[in-house]
Amino acid sequence: MTPPPVIAPGSLAARPQPALPCDDLLLRPWEAGDAPAFLSAYQDETIRRWHTRRPSCEADALEWFDTYRRDWATERGGHWAVEGVTGEVLGRIALRGWDFDDGLADVAYWVVPAARRRGVAARGGPGLSPPGPGRGGFHRLALDHSTHNHASCRVALKSGYDLEGTKRSAAVHDDGRHDMHLHARIREV
Ligand SMILES: CC(C)(COP(=O)(O)OP(=O)(O)OC[C@H]1O[C@@H](n2cnc3c(N)ncnc32)[C@H](O)[C@@H]1OP(=O)(O)O)[C@@H](O)C(=O)NCCC(=O)NCCS
Repeated sequence: MTPPPVIAPGSLAARPQPALPCDDLLLRPWEAGDAPAFLSAYQDETIRRWHTRRPSCEADALEWFDTYRRDWATERGGHWAVEGVTGEVLGRIALRGWDFDDGLADVAYWVVPAARRRGVAARGGPGLSPPGPGRGGFHRLALDHSTHNHASCRVALKSGYDLEGTKRSAAVHDDGRHDMHLHARIREV
């Protein structure tokens, strides 16, 4: 007999994408008014170094936000702005590549330069509790980063994502192919 899916199809998209409070941070869906801040984040040299897909104008950012809304509605992924106490965008966290059969998702994140080294990624990044039933439903959250991205490696380990290995020559960056570390966090059952 086929095992049932780990997460019931329709169970997340049945409700609007939730905002997720996280200590003094709020993870919330992206809004049109965030486009300037989103675009500005992608002007940062470090974010540009590790993210090869980048919006080049506010219209691009708005298109991305549309895709994010569709991702939620079609249960492909969830994308949140990480908002600070005064409402400013401090970062981004995304759960992508949803696989409800096996309960899998991939995590992606950045934090704006002015908010770095204050625990934003550790609190509102890959350490997040995903929305949904049964402590998020997702059994395994994975992330990968270039083996040269030591900050991301620290964030991953601090957030409970064990290093599983190195995917050789797995991603193209501006300066060529990089080996990628694969990390994952397995839900405690
Ligand atoms: C990587 C990034 C998300 C870290 O965000 P952050 O909010 O500054 O991270 P935190 O303050 O939560 O730090 C978490 C841990 O990582 C460590 N860390 C953060 N930045 C670091 C750096 N540049 N070098 C070494 N360690 C670093 C912190 O010291 C902390 O570990 P500790 O508590 O053991 O000291 C941020 O630097 C960033 O957006 N970089 C560019 C985009 C990027 O790399 N995204 C990930 C792509 S895979």
